[in-house]
Amino acid sequence: MIYSRIEGTGRYLPSKVMTNFDLEKIVDTSDEWIRTRTGVERRHIAADDQATSDIGFEAAKEAIKNAGIDKEDIDLIVVGTTTPDYVFPNVGTLIQDRLGIHGCPAFSVEAACSGFVYALSVADKFIKTGGAKCALVIGAEVMTRLIDWGDRNTCVLFGDGAGAVILKPSSEAGILDCNLGADGKYKDLLLYPAGPSKNFHKMGTGEIGLEMSGNDVFRVAVKTLGNVAEEALIANNIDKQELDWLVPHQANLRIIQATAKRLDLPIEKVILTVQDHGNTSSASIPMALDVGIRDGRIQRGQLILMEAFGGGFTWGTVLMRY
Ligand code: COA
Repeated sequence: MIYSRIEGTGRYLPSKVMTNFDLEKIVDTSDEWIRTRTGVERRHIAADDQATSDIGFEAAKEAIKNAGIDKEDIDLIVVGTTTPDYVFPNVGTLIQDRLGIHGCPAFSVEAACSGFVYALSVADKFIKTGGAKCALVIGAEVMTRLIDWGDRNTCVLFGDGAGAVILKPSSEAGILDCNLGADGKYKDLLLYPAGPSKNFHKMGTGEIGLEMSGNDVFRVAVKTLGNVAEEALIANNIDKQELDWLVPHQANLRIIQATAKRLDLPIEKVILTVQDHGNTSSASIPMALDVGIRDGRIQRGQLILMEAFGGGFTWGTVLMRY
């Protein structure tokens, strides 16, 4: 049996930090409200001249270094992102060019905050079927470009960043299972209502911004994530007690706490970055994974569940041994 296994991880956060106190000066909000409702204390904001490929490239360099591989070995690049530099070329090709490597397939997967889990699942299939021997998988976002900075309901939630992993085949587990899902009936609950083929003229004008029915998103996210997390363990005959770490999408501390509770997992077994990063969409899981690995909490051989939920709605889980 061939598994795909994470050989190395990396992350990059833009240097500019915006605290809740900074936001108090922009909209009618308070540090106390943001912290108690979301868990967010600060977030990083990309510089005006930093695009998704720029921050994704930085995370990729770290992952390559930490995996100890030669960049020339990379034979697949998959990027989860909802905030690409351009309509085309895709962010994967832009990062490929920045890395100075040529020829391997490179593409982006667009699944909102589930983007990394979707991208990792795609790369896992390539590796398991022999279609790739060394995949670079990235989650990178500049979510703050989609924000209406006058809307206190949404502007307090998001941040920018990028995370990356190097995936290689191994006879030792490895990714055990990936499960993806989506339900487009929820399309109106969380969206940025413009793109190249609809409302194009409104993009970037400040006329529109990210729209969200916060309460509804919260309710469906808690229910769906609890269900898919439990289903992932049941499908793989794994008892809740066996799980070493939950590495969740970092949208809201209360959503994360609810999922941890469904899994009977103490919060100490959850990698939390939401307080420092905010919701970085596709980037949140690979960055949290990198934080847990770098600070020594996540050890080789441990059992990890990653789970994500995002606009669409889309969702997904990845169960793996690190
Ligand atoms: N500061 C202060 N007050 C705010 C505020 C802010 N930043 N944002 C909203 N409020 C106000 C609302 O206007 C409302 O006031 P009102 O009662 O006078 O109308 C009040 O706070 C309560 O709003 P409500 O939306 O009910 O709060 P909530 O407890 O549901 O928390 C969210 C709001 C957004 C934090 C919560 O719904 C949430 O986290 N949802 C999921 C969001 C998410 O994770 N999205 C991404 C998924 S990938």
